[in-house]
Amino acid sequence: MEQPSSLSRIDWVARSCRLLAATAAEFRDTRPFAGLTIGTGIHLEPKTVALLMTLRAGGAGLVCTGNLNSTQPETVDYLRAQGIKVFATQTRNADEHGASLDAIIEEKPDLLLDNGGDLFARAAERPYAGLMGGTEETTSGRTRLMPMRDRLNMPILVINDSPIKQFAENRHAVGQSMFESYLRFTNRSTNGKRVTVFGYGACGKGTAACFRNAFSAVSVVDIDPVTTLEAHLDGFSTPLREAAIRSADILLTVTGYAGIITAADLPLIKDGAILMNGGHFPHEIDVEGFRNSPAVAAIDRYEAEQIETVRLHDGRAFHILGGGHMANLAGPRPLGNTVESMDLGFALQARCLERVATGGLGREACVIPVPADIDASVASAYLDLAR
Ligand SMILES: NC(=O)c1ccc[n+]([C@@H]2O[C@H](COP(=O)([O-])OP(=O)(O)OC[C@H]3O[C@@H](n4cnc5c(N)ncnc54)[C@H](O)[C@@H]3O)[C@@H](O)[C@H]2O)c1
Repeated sequence: MEQPSSLSRIDWVARSCRLLAATAAEFRDTRPFAGLTIGTGIHLEPKTVALLMTLRAGGAGLVCTGNLNSTQPETVDYLRAQGIKVFATQTRNADEHGASLDAIIEEKPDLLLDNGGDLFARAAERPYAGLMGGTEETTSGRTRLMPMRDRLNMPILVINDSPIKQFAENRHAVGQSMFESYLRFTNRSTNGKRVTVFGYGACGKGTAACFRNAFSAVSVVDIDPVTTLEAHLDGFSTPLREAAIRSADILLTVTGYAGIITAADLPLIKDGAILMNGGHFPHEIDVEGFRNSPAVAAIDRYEAEQIETVRLHDGRAFHILGGGHMANLAGPRPLGNTVESMDLGFALQARCLERVATGGLGREACVIPVPADIDASVASAYLDLAR
């Protein structure tokens, strides 16, 4: 027997990304990025490493930076140890982050892998010869880049607009990780608990389903009557907002909008309720409004757990997880969405970059969804591995 080896989380994630591993094996033969450099601006964390190593297997030179506040130093060390150029620090400072983005553009990469439009926005302002196009991961990046299409005028594929991303990540993975986060933060049960989910979009659907599967009684509140009807036909109760808050042991927001639960709701919140958010920004639950409300007698903080207990003058108390930040990326040992969902999303990234690199798209493909044939081939590859 070989000596037991000491492996890291980066290794665990890499070995769990089976689709990327298969893609990398193919790329080692086909070398779609031979002679090209890819500039990346996406969260530097273990799952991204699996994508970056896949691109490198295809012959790409890489220059990498992260996004604001999400750069993991161990990931940066790992990439540098692999000889990859990384311009990134873990920072919440927009100027510092901007300097890293500028450093990527100064390298004049042939392709860009963007997350939020930071790199392409810079390329639109300061165009350079040789930029072939690339990919954008998010909806917010798509919205930002759309008005720049005339200036960009190159193929840019938007990963979030793939149906696979919508159902694999937003629906299934966010649902599972919101459920996992509730258990991870609280170590409390879900059985028999009344759960109210605000927002029945992709993320809300998965979240509601996961809590129902864990023996909770789940209600849904959505401002759109058509979506609320869908929730009703899916078998969830759909009480009016006030009744839904009054009854809930667990209140969950996943709408993408601010002020979903505010201090004005304090009279309604049940004694002992737990509040958590899965939406992108920490503004769905107005935590600051609670903290400053005259109805609040005291706040107890479980620092290591990132749980706050808000105690009201009338004797009720309720708990907020992770300060209202995305719960699956907050609290003790946050893991984010499942490896498999990221494996799928990143396989789409790799295939889209391959399509741009091999000249398979014209300028008219500027800020468009993932081509349907790429969706189909990634779906088939995943199913083949699952069979
Ligand atoms: N936590 C994560 O890992 C993760 C991953 C992907 C997306 N997100 C975020 O989750 C949020 C939701 O994403 P989605 O894809 O489900 O969006 P979506 O647009 O598909 O769904 C949002 C739903 O919220 C409803 N809504 C809006 N305002 C409301 C209100 N005041 N009360 C009740 N319902 C309301 C809308 O009608 C819609 O049905 C976004 O902020 C998104 O960025 C988080």
